[in-house]
Amino acid sequence: MGIFVTDLAESTLETLIAAARAVRLNAHAPYSKFHVGAAVLDEHGHVSVGCNMENGAYPLGTCAEAVALGSMVASGGKECRVIVIVGSGDTLITPCGGCRQRIAELAVAGTDIYCVAQTGDERKKLSVEDVLPNGFRL
Ligand code: THU
Repeated sequence: MGIFVTDLAESTLETLIAAARAVRLNAHAPYSKFHVGAAVLDEHGHVSVGCNMENGAYPLGTCAEAVALGSMVASGGKECRVIVIVGSGDTLITPCGGCRQRIAELAVAGTDIYCVAQTGDERKKLSVEDVLPNGFRL
């Protein structure tokens, strides 16, 4: 069971991209001014979203991916089937090291990571193994 990249309807991907772009606008990033949005598709077909949330005590800032994955778990999702990450401008961003580990924790075989620009059509599809080869697992 489960969906894999080849099963992912283009319309579902477009929905995820639109959700990530929309939530990015809510980012609380007064320090870096770099706004990030993320959208996660779980095993129920539910979409959870998150944006980065910085803090004046800098290390307490949270990435968009962490917020989206936390929302997925809080809403009952256990498997991150697809995650879309949208940075700022027309360049693609990839998840930070810590978020690579967070994604790996909740990913399943075939989980796709789509890095998408805020503007334009550029997008890159990565696997968990691409972003976290030989990652730690308990
Ligand atoms: N950031 C994310 O939210 N996700 C990433 O994948 C990379 C970086 C945030 C953290 C910080 O609020 C801002 O972007 C600049 O690093």
